[in-house]
Amino acid sequence: MSQLLVVGNWKMNGSEATVAALLGELALAVQTSGVDVAVCPAYVHLGQAVKVVASSPIAVGAQDCSHRATGAYTGEVSPVMLFDMGCRWVILGHSERRQYHGESDALVAAKLAAAIEAGLSPIVCVGETREQRESGDAESVVAAQLLGALKAQAGIDSLVVAYEPVWAIGTGLTASPQQAQAMHAHIKLVLEGIAGVDAATARVLYGGSVKADNARELFAEEDIDGALVGGASLVASEFLSIVGAASI
Ligand code: PGA
Repeated sequence: MSQLLVVGNWKMNGSEATVAALLGELALAVQTSGVDVAVCPAYVHLGQAVKVVASSPIAVGAQDCSHRATGAYTGEVSPVMLFDMGCRWVILGHSERRQYHGESDALVAAKLAAAIEAGLSPIVCVGETREQRESGDAESVVAAQLLGALKAQAGIDSLVVAYEPVWAIGTGLTASPQQAQAMHAHIKLVLEGIAGVDAATARVLYGGSVKADNARELFAEEDIDGALVGGASLVASEFLSIVGAASI
């Protein structure tokens, strides 16, 4: 199995003072522990974050990017700019982008192509709503999101997919390790059928109320290759416990 990856999605949280404090603590504590670790602060804090973690193994990512490299796109941030400033990861297609900003699978696909072209490593988010799970459509919804984002790409090595059931994000409800494992196995099967995706090197992260006290049992599942952590990534001790659970 490839090395586990733990990513903190800070969402729209933080100030220069809290970013300095949180990252200062993480940078001191995270050593090369057999786990890949990244944090994704808001755009305005990325430059600061890159400097603070420069001599630590922590990488920095963005929470989104434009589908264009440059040009007249007011308010957008290009993946080329992100790479240039030291970002190495980018989260794409998060359910909050899909829900509040109307992002379609086609837009996620365009952003993915632009991110890869710029040299960023993408984390493509997929996941079903509570209604879709209750009506038995979770697997087909996730497969459609994967195909929509990935099928027209030229070639993706070391892809990262984050399975984040919408009903588990920020709610305190977590998919059980068995529910998550079943969906992760399904995702890997779907990836095998998509030309241009190297399914053998793809990692599938779980996201949705991951905490220090449930991380270990999730990581024990065969096809859970790490976590995308929201709320718990804003508390150094919680995030470090999750990283610790991944390094065992
Ligand atoms: P959560 O968020 O850990 O707060 O549920 C996860 C995410 O949205 O990436």
